[in-house]
Amino acid sequence: MDFKIRQYKPQDASQLKILLEELVKSEAKKNFLRLPFPKPEYKEVYFQGLIKKINENSTQIYVAEDAGLIIGYVAGTIQFVSGDDLLEFKPVKEGFITDIFVKEKYRKNEIGKKLMKMIMQYFEKQKCDILKLFTQSENDIAHHLYLQCGFSDYNQKMIKVINPDLYK
Ligand SMILES: CC(C)(COP(=O)(O)OP(=O)(O)OC[C@H]1O[C@@H](n2cnc3c(N)ncnc32)[C@H](O)[C@@H]1OP(=O)(O)O)[C@@H](O)C(=O)NCCC(=O)NCCS
Repeated sequence: MDFKIRQYKPQDASQLKILLEELVKSEAKKNFLRLPFPKPEYKEVYFQGLIKKINENSTQIYVAEDAGLIIGYVAGTIQFVSGDDLLEFKPVKEGFITDIFVKEKYRKNEIGKKLMKMIMQYFEKQKCDILKLFTQSENDIAHHLYLQCGFSDYNQKMIKVINPDLYK
C-alpha cells in the first residue's frame, strides 16, 4: 500500500473531524459507559481542544495519507506531573498518546505501527521521560500493537456496576 505519514496541516481539518467521530463510535462499541453515538457537537468540541493544544505546542498530530485521502491519524500531548501530585510522584515529562485510528478498510497494512513510530519519535525528541496511553481491556488489537511498540501493562482499572440499566 502506498501511503505517507506526515504532520497534520490545517487543510486536513474536515477529514480529521470525520475520523475523530469514527474513532469515538468504534470506542462506544467496546465500552458500555459510552453513549452509542457521541452528541452532534462532539467532533467540533474535541477538534477545537486538539487545535488549541497544537497551538500551545503541547500536542502533535500525524496523519496517514493515501492520494489526498486521510486514512488514519495519531494524536499525542505532552504533560507534566504537577500540583499536589508532585508530593508523591516523580516529576516526569510524559508523552500521552490520546488517539490512534486507521480507517477500517486500510487496516493491517502497518499504518498503525508507522503512526505509533512517528509519535514515539516526536516524544523522544522532546525528551519525554515516559510515554503513556489508555486502552479498553477488550481492545486486543490495539493492545497487541502497543506491546509491539514497547509498551507494557501498568495499572489496572476495575469497575463494579450497581445500576444494571447502564448495560441497556
Ligand atoms: C488499532 C489500530 C489503530 C491498528 O491499526 P492497523 O493499521 O491495522 O495496525 P497495523 O497494521 O500496524 O497492525 C499492528 C498489529 O496488529 C495486528 N492487527 C491489526 N488488525 C488486526 C485484526 N483485525 N485482527 C488481528 N490482528 C490485527 C496486525 O497483524 C499487527 O500485528 P503483527 O505485526 O503481529 O501482524 C486499528 O485497528 C484501529 O484503528 N482500531 C480502531 C480504533 C482503536 O481501537 N484505537 C485504539 C484506541 S485505544
